Amino acid sequence: MTALDLSSPVAVVGTGTMGQGIAQVALVAGHRVRLYDAVPGRALEAAEAIGARLDRLVEKDRLTAAERDTACERLLPAADLADLADCSLVVEAVLERLDAKQELLRALEDIVDEDCLLATNTSSLSVTAIGGALRSPGRFVGLHFFNPAPLLPLVEVVSGFATDVTSATRAYELARAWGKTPVACADTPGFIVNRIARPFYAEAFAVYEAQGADPATIDAVLRESGGFRMGAFELTDLIGQDVNESVTHSVWQSFFQDVRFTPSLAQRRLVESGRLGRKSGHGWYDYAHDAERPEPHTAEEQQRPAYVVVEGDLGPAGELVAMIREAGIQVREEDEDHGTRLVLPGGGQLALADGQTSVEFRDVVYFDLALDYRRATRIALSASQDTSPQTLAEATGLFQALGKDVSVIGDVPGMIVARTVARIVDLAHDAVAKGVATEEDIDTAMRLGVNYPLGPFEWSRKLGRNWAYALLDDLHLRDPSGRYAPSLALYRHAYATDKREGSTS
Ligand SMILES: NC(=O)c1ccc[n+]([C@@H]2O[C@H](COP(=O)([O-])OP(=O)(O)OC[C@H]3O[C@@H](n4cnc5c(N)ncnc54)[C@H](O)[C@@H]3O)[C@@H](O)[C@H]2O)c1
Repeated sequence: MTALDLSSPVAVVGTGTMGQGIAQVALVAGHRVRLYDAVPGRALEAAEAIGARLDRLVEKDRLTAAERDTACERLLPAADLADLADCSLVVEAVLERLDAKQELLRALEDIVDEDCLLATNTSSLSVTAIGGALRSPGRFVGLHFFNPAPLLPLVEVVSGFATDVTSATRAYELARAWGKTPVACADTPGFIVNRIARPFYAEAFAVYEAQGADPATIDAVLRESGGFRMGAFELTDLIGQDVNESVTHSVWQSFFQDVRFTPSLAQRRLVESGRLGRKSGHGWYDYAHDAERPEPHTAEEQQRPAYVVVEGDLGPAGELVAMIREAGIQVREEDEDHGTRLVLPGGGQLALADGQTSVEFRDVVYFDLALDYRRATRIALSASQDTSPQTLAEATGLFQALGKDVSVIGDVPGMIVARTVARIVDLAHDAVAKGVATEEDIDTAMRLGVNYPLGPFEWSRKLGRNWAYALLDDLHLRDPSGRYAPSLALYRHAYATDKREGSTS
């Protein structure tokens, strides 16, 4: 099925950042593209800016000069909204205000044909609410491109309550024909990516607010252990603290101030003080040309332990046992039903972060989750005031013997990567249960939209079915605000497995 034939033009209304990007995508896909902006002259400026970007593609050999020339000929700035009458699709990318979008759509409905598909690129408004302005909301759909639209492959195709299945399918096929990777999703706050990604920022900020570690250390752990491309602090400095906070705020408000989406006080202070990130020269980090980039905390070299005792199954950290052996450290294995720990020569214990704090056990050090313990270059350890210096030194020496940098953080239950991943997995399960999208589409959206190394369901499978539930359940005990309360969907997922495996514990 082809989405739209190339004989009738498509239109982009609102020719700012996103409008220009979307227009470029449609042009390169072979469409004639009409551009309209409320500010006179801006559509023409946008056409010139798109032409200049196509020139750069020619310089980089990604487009031939002839392709650029025909694309530019197909770019048609419009002086009046009425000039869009012959379009088979109109994508609006005007300012993010419900009244502005509704007014525009009402006007468009009187201009275009009945079978013209109408789409919005809104990132935070409800598609259903915007479409409420239309006499025929069935033809209205969300086409949520990511910035920069010509480069980023993901498009969330959002169906409002009134969107016809045929309109959603047309939009989906169109995005595909334009070389994008569409995912289908329901009209909920944040759609897929902006909803499920919230804990990535929130948990990093929470660890910082709890005095668990400084931004440079948290970022390094998220990158080097979690496998995320960037840490939450450096990423929000790049996005802009105001932009990132406004998405968080909008999702939180739209969910009627659901505690799981509570914005960060520390980030609020940054925004209030104008520390917006790279664009203002200072955010979490200082970008003055002579400013020193803070280094992550990295522990001093410690002696490797001569041996470790492995009690039980280390679950997602099971690979460590082979790695410890390969590093020439003797491993004694003990089959302990209740234990999933390493015991160090001094008698202290080393356990994977599980949502408990180090004060609850005598002399324990927790280590954080890694995406892949072999490839991780850094591991975070957390110790309490009751942890003996010997245990911390032995734990540090053990990971250093495996070739890792070690960052010692405060006694933060769930540490950094573990709590972040558990919450992302939980929100993903919750979203599927609530009909937001399929597991496959959520995985695709998080990999392509925010570059996660694994989709939440891929991660969930790798970690084992009970892992995220058990961790969040423990965190919820220690912070009963509801922020960490595992969803019913995650509970079902974990419990169903237990039953299949013959245990109901
Ligand atoms: N910037 C992003 O990263 C991003 C990402 C995804 C989605 N979005 C969404 O895309 C939309 C546009 O965002 P942007 O960043 O491109 O904004 P922008 O400010 O760069 O551009 C908006 C353009 O719309 C024009 N405009 C305003 N009202 C209009 C109207 N009634 N009719 C015609 N033109 C009008 C403005 O003159 C301006 O040129 C918003 O809904 C936003 O939420 C933005």
